[in-house]
Amino acid sequence: MNNTPVIAIDGPSGSGKGTICKLLAQTLGYHLLDSGSLYRLVALAAEHHGVSMENERALADIAAHLDVQFLTSTEGDKVLLEGEDVSLAIRTETVGMNASRVASLTLVRKALEGRQRAFSEMPGLVADGRDMGTVIFPQACIKVFLTASAEERAKRRYKQLKSKGLNASLADILVDIQQRDDRDQNRSVAPLKPAADAVQIDCTHMGIDEVEQKVMTLIRNRGL
Ligand code: C5P
Repeated sequence: MNNTPVIAIDGPSGSGKGTICKLLAQTLGYHLLDSGSLYRLVALAAEHHGVSMENERALADIAAHLDVQFLTSTEGDKVLLEGEDVSLAIRTETVGMNASRVASLTLVRKALEGRQRAFSEMPGLVADGRDMGTVIFPQACIKVFLTASAEERAKRRYKQLKSKGLNASLADILVDIQQRDDRDQNRSVAPLKPAADAVQIDCTHMGIDEVEQKVMTLIRNRGL
């Protein structure tokens, strides 16, 4: 553990964590960890290498040796897997569903722990995920658990996918979100739940600006 300030934002799929975390990292000049992208990358790499989503050992091996680069530039962020730009490919609903399957495997989660903790560097880190405040960064100085109703989250995801030009059906997305919630909350390893010391925010009826302000107030109150 080091003394780097970590802001852990956890919550279910589509709660707006990704957007909030990006904004916070920009405002604070902190590093950003999108931990979900790592599970998505494991799922996609497994697909590329013909590895079954049930083969825990092989998936853990993929997770341990993931050849990934996160590039940031003024033209937008890019994720490279084995040198290939997979920024869009990791965002499909199929990859998201497979990510939630591989994320329920203990060996896969263990294999990704060190890689996630390595993101904690000065001047600070904003960590986006399901178990940031409970497992990966239990020492985080701010922990937020961001939720919204499944229907509202499905609507937001639908709009997000459409704006990226990806094909989507609102009804299918709602079913996917409910299945993913169920899997994330009920798995035996690192289940999705608020840390005991997390501030819970239900943003079903809140805009992004309002959520960001609320979290920034928590951060400023801690003197960061
Ligand atoms: O956040 P995102 O939707 O990109 O995450 C993809 C999947 O990875 C989630 O549905 C969840 O099952 C899993 N995940 C996880 N722990 C994290 C981040 C994501 O189990 N810290």
